[in-house]
Amino acid sequence: MVDETRVHSARRYNYWLGGKDNFAVDRESGDLIAKNFPTIRITAVENRGFLRRAVTHLAAEAGVRQFLDIGTGLPTANNTHEVAQRIAPDARIVYVDNDPMVLVHARALLTSTPEGRTAYIEADLRDPGKILADPALREVLDLRQPVAVMLIAVLHFIEDTGEAARIVRTLLDALPSGSFVAISNGTADFADEQTRARFAALMARGQLDAFVRTADEVGVLVEGLEVLEPGIVPVSEWRADEEPGPRPTPAEVAVYGVVARKS
Ligand SMILES: C[S@@+](CC[C@H](N)C(=O)[O-])C[C@H]1O[C@@H](n2cnc3c(N)ncnc32)[C@H](O)[C@@H]1O
Repeated sequence: MVDETRVHSARRYNYWLGGKDNFAVDRESGDLIAKNFPTIRITAVENRGFLRRAVTHLAAEAGVRQFLDIGTGLPTANNTHEVAQRIAPDARIVYVDNDPMVLVHARALLTSTPEGRTAYIEADLRDPGKILADPALREVLDLRQPVAVMLIAVLHFIEDTGEAARIVRTLLDALPSGSFVAISNGTADFADEQTRARFAALMARGQLDAFVRTADEVGVLVEGLEVLEPGIVPVSEWRADEEPGPRPTPAEVAVYGVVARKS
């Protein structure tokens, strides 16, 4: 059921990215957060840039042909399958989100090349076993071959870092060596005191549901994996040499990105 009276993170993010698939309640929440963190639109755009560059690297340099994109969001420019299949038309992508609004728009995610495949599953990241066992996933992905798990701007909805790390581990445990995980997660590491206080107040009032993590906490999520260069850095700085300048500051972006490989 699509509920127009409750804020949905997918629709609010769509609003920040300049999309049209959102309701008044999402725009109000988006504006309130933007009032307290005026660079939130830069954050959203830079996060999408990281997704694009990470998929590009994984498909072009690492040779990955299978992607499991959990917390997909509403379709927008440069969805995972579009980026991957531009490089490798035979790439296979499974999308997962728990927001029924994303399901309504899933057709736009299913525009695979004839050589590749895409599928969409409505499921919750908190139950990774169920995602892995889903017949639609099994039909599209061969879990004996490497898979890149994309967890972009979704783990920060899971407050407990231990639980988030267990989810990442469960997913990677089901995949062969040579698989990858790409993660982005909001951070307050670069925020000044006033920004931290404004965030804490929004959280306390239940007006914000994204839990920020320090670089060390993001490190816990990829423990035991081989972290690719340049490590855990603001998403805007992850292999961004070819992005047009001027680049935003880490404080404006406030999201860490990391890509790691299972050896
Ligand atoms: C901020 S958007 C990120 C979209 C996309 N990954 C990106 O980075 O551009 C977060 C998405 O995660 C989804 N989401 C949040 N919690 C989830 C959960 N527990 N299971 C599955 N999806 C979830 C939301 O519905 C939303 O579509």
